[in-house]
Amino acid sequence: MLAAPGVGIRRVALPRLLGSLLLVTAAGVSGVGAAQSGAAADSRSTPTGTSPRPLGRTVPAPARVKPAGSPYSLTAKTAIRVESDSAEARRIGDYLAGLLRPSTGHPLPVTGRGADGIRLRLDPQDGGAGDEGYTLRSDPESVTLTARTPAGLFHGVQTLRQLLPARVEEKSRQKGPWQVAGGTIEDVPRYAYRSAMLDVSRHFFSVAEVKRYIDQLALYKLNTLHLHLSDDQGWRIAIDSWPRLATYGGRTEVGGGTGGHYTKDDYKEIVRYASSRYLEVVPEIDLPGHTNAALASYAELNCDGVAPPLYTGTDVGFSSLCVPKAVTYGFVDDVIRELAALTPGKYLHIGGDEAHSTSHDDYVTFMNKAQAVVGRYGKTVIGWHQLTGATPVAGAVAQYWGYDRTGAAEREQVAAAAAKGTKLVLSPADRSYLDMKYDKDTELGLSWAGYVSVRRSYDWDPAVYLDGAPAGSVLGVEAPLWSETLTNSDEIERMAFPRLPGVAELGWSPASTHDWDAYKVRLGAQGPRFSALGIDYYRAPEVPWAAE
Ligand code: ACM
Repeated sequence: MLAAPGVGIRRVALPRLLGSLLLVTAAGVSGVGAAQSGAAADSRSTPTGTSPRPLGRTVPAPARVKPAGSPYSLTAKTAIRVESDSAEARRIGDYLAGLLRPSTGHPLPVTGRGADGIRLRLDPQDGGAGDEGYTLRSDPESVTLTARTPAGLFHGVQTLRQLLPARVEEKSRQKGPWQVAGGTIEDVPRYAYRSAMLDVSRHFFSVAEVKRYIDQLALYKLNTLHLHLSDDQGWRIAIDSWPRLATYGGRTEVGGGTGGHYTKDDYKEIVRYASSRYLEVVPEIDLPGHTNAALASYAELNCDGVAPPLYTGTDVGFSSLCVPKAVTYGFVDDVIRELAALTPGKYLHIGGDEAHSTSHDDYVTFMNKAQAVVGRYGKTVIGWHQLTGATPVAGAVAQYWGYDRTGAAEREQVAAAAAKGTKLVLSPADRSYLDMKYDKDTELGLSWAGYVSVRRSYDWDPAVYLDGAPAGSVLGVEAPLWSETLTNSDEIERMAFPRLPGVAELGWSPASTHDWDAYKVRLGAQGPRFSALGIDYYRAPEVPWAAE
């Protein structure tokens, strides 16, 4: 058996590390263009040079696209018709109106049933679309979105948004026309778990900054926000029974800045906002390593009873909870109980990575006890993949963050656990870590897993990525963003865009749509949308960016 800790090396000072070392149906995406030009040639509805974006030229690529007929034109007469009594459907209608009114300048009243306009239909009998799928039908009379669930309707709204010109995202009035190509999209996600992680520990991000990121994740149909709430450099969530965790352990960050933490009300607001965008928040308290902020806050948590100083550097692997001490389990129980009470979602993440200062036996003892605590408070445990070196409980999820240099024994251990029923979230560091530099010239970020180009982050298949892990064990994918070098939203966006949409597409789109040459064109078409949204993205030379 592998020593659970000690296998990965992450975020260690780089020099040390280096020193030692379609249909859309693809037919869809290409075929759509041709079919669309037929529609675009319909001069009745399409002024020259302003043909609508081809149906299906979205990120993520839809599962099935059938272009047909003439486009829909959104005008001053358009109503948003919520064809359901559901308050949630109504709220989605209001959200859509809120997106479209500033740029179109049209009133877009949110009203009831009718044959024309933008129609939002919640149809619980429409089982074909699953828990998150939707159908979009567009013709000159209406655009109709149908879904079985509000989440499906919301994802359909994101598609509709992307079918409209990028300037629809501007906050000031823009010139039309506002057309949606004619035809049908039937869409359903490939994976149930489509996540992004934000490290709010190495640098603290305000509630407003987190909300901004949530809105960006929603545009690409992600449904999970994993918040890395504690690490050596900062504890970011108020815990009433151990108040110094936040008030002392949260008071600094990498580089010595003032840090910060979320009050319980702040955190509830993040959860509420995420939920309004159909994202579930997965909170992570990283244990038993990555705990210097906790150890600094309470001397009794240390084996020698002495609290270390707060830490503002970027080394990893030097801290550990004291596994033999009883107080450790009182602490874990209190923290997990309070966190579970703040969490309407199913999952709670207990970290488990890089516990280089915990012996293997202690690691196994600790992780097995911590998993039981999560279960006691009604949550499903997620751990970084080192959890598979302990005894994953039934239903546990392991998050794989290995990379090309991860040893065979470690990969095999994870694959063996997957074969026995542990589900996997895949976030390979040299593919989906958004904090890896794009290339040698990238100013922000790290490079211990190598450089991760836009193509590299997109061009892999989750179903076959980890040798020996059954395709059915893959619950989904995540794009983590570690924040040692990132201090604000601009810097977050510079690293996340344009790679985040690629990982989102791996999570959503069927494997049959996977094609870099087609993807890079769809991604390039997102450039003007990023700009309209104020996202300062990296203009990767490998992507043919559309003119603004
Ligand atoms: C990790 O990057 N240590 C999960």
